[in-house]
Amino acid sequence: METGIKIFDTTLRDGEQTPGVCLGAREKLEIAQVLAKLRVDIIEAGFPSASPGDFAAVSEIAAQVKGVSIAALARANTQDIDAAKEALRKAENPCIHTFIATSDIHLEYKLKLTREQVLAQAEAAVRYAKKFISDVEFSAEDASRSDWDYLCKIYTAAITAGATVINIPDTVGYSTPSEFGALIRYICDNVPNIDKAIVSAHCHNDLGMAVANSLAAVQNGARQVECTINGIGERAGNTSLEELVMALATRKEYYRATTRIDTRQIYRTSRQVSTLSGIAVPPNKAVVGDNAFAHESGIHQHGVLNNPLTYEIMNPEMVGSRNAIVLGKHSGRHAFEERIQQLGYDLPEEKINVLFKEFKELADRKKVVYDRDIEALVADRQQMTDECYRLLYHQVVSGNQMVATASVRLETDSGMMEEASCGDGPVDALFKAIEKTVGFSVCLKDYQLKAVTSGEDALGEATVWLGHDDKIFIGRGISTDVIEASARAYVNAMNKMIGVCGYLK
Ligand code: KIV
Ligand code: ZN
Repeated sequence: METGIKIFDTTLRDGEQTPGVCLGAREKLEIAQVLAKLRVDIIEAGFPSASPGDFAAVSEIAAQVKGVSIAALARANTQDIDAAKEALRKAENPCIHTFIATSDIHLEYKLKLTREQVLAQAEAAVRYAKKFISDVEFSAEDASRSDWDYLCKIYTAAITAGATVINIPDTVGYSTPSEFGALIRYICDNVPNIDKAIVSAHCHNDLGMAVANSLAAVQNGARQVECTINGIGERAGNTSLEELVMALATRKEYYRATTRIDTRQIYRTSRQVSTLSGIAVPPNKAVVGDNAFAHESGIHQHGVLNNPLTYEIMNPEMVGSRNAIVLGKHSGRHAFEERIQQLGYDLPEEKINVLFKEFKELADRKKVVYDRDIEALVADRQQMTDECYRLLYHQVVSGNQMVATASVRLETDSGMMEEASCGDGPVDALFKAIEKTVGFSVCLKDYQLKAVTSGEDALGEATVWLGHDDKIFIGRGISTDVIEASARAYVNAMNKMIGVCGYLK
């Protein structure tokens, strides 16, 4: 018999704590919608008391994303729980996730409370949350470095107070698989009312063992795993959803555990999170990296051609990763729309019309159009904020014996503006010209350029990180011309910044 494992996705909460990641409400909503399509059981949408922006994002997701449970994080106090319950007001299946640290090191240096005080606070928090919402998860932060018997006491009290899920975090990624498995087993065997709650595991990846620890937890009684797409999160990140899910699916006879995840949505979800968060997926990343299914050596290629089972334990179709030639410049609107649907997008007519026009322009410039090109076009369109500035024109002159110069023309609702600038290379000149045109200075934190697919006519994707007021705004641009992709990315990041900070000339 197989055991059902719930997938609690915390990309929007713990994942958003990745250094340099700052997702806006609109981007969070988009990610939540893809997560629902991926069929995760619970989406942890954020930490409402952390900031008004977080509160608004959780409320929006609660109101719009249905068919999945929406959780909100709260420290074990009434103010945080009030904010969480308020943000979750419109959720179909709300869940309050309340937590307090339990390790002696956290009690002494962070909370300055005794074990008895922490236990009382945890119990009171669960009881308070339970007044409003029936699904309450309780986490003992730093559980893996806490005293096991004390943990049993606090979990027993939390369940008595009404917790429906007890979460066991390896907050600092310190545990090892056999040790973490033993901890889960100990809690299952020594918490007398454990049958009234689901045991959940939440692992961090500081020693690269988050997925292994989570699998050990499943083998020892955990029925929920908390994870993030691409394993993003604080420091070295969290348990990677795609790795955990594919380990359970590929080694089904071994783990005898299943999830509800639609694995064919994994690749698309991974790319969407990477695009919106600005955190690139390493090429060798298991399951979703560009090289995850690439066979380089001749011996391997020969074996795979004879029978894929020789070197492939999963195939790319299982995770929805493909790179097929799909359409060309003679393809019609009907074929394009059908392909968009096959790729899993559900877009309104007007959006398809705009995308079709962009596709035709791309097909004119590029010999073959791959699924990934289409995905890049869709992602590019989806991430466009209400555009304050639109790029109309750019020109760059550069060479190794001259100073690079660039001129740009931007359009706003109140007219056109144009400026030129010199720079240290073509991209620098271009960015300076845009900055001059807009009339305020921003801090360029990072810039990246990569090809969406291979080949000399590949679509280039530029990503720009602009910093302002402790916030980072990520802009993306695609084009077969990398200078144009860079200009679009810069203007896109500026538009996002203006959307939040309201900066206008
Ligand atoms: O890592 C951790 O301990 C957490 C808790 C809030 C569950 O993220
Ligand atoms: Zn965490």
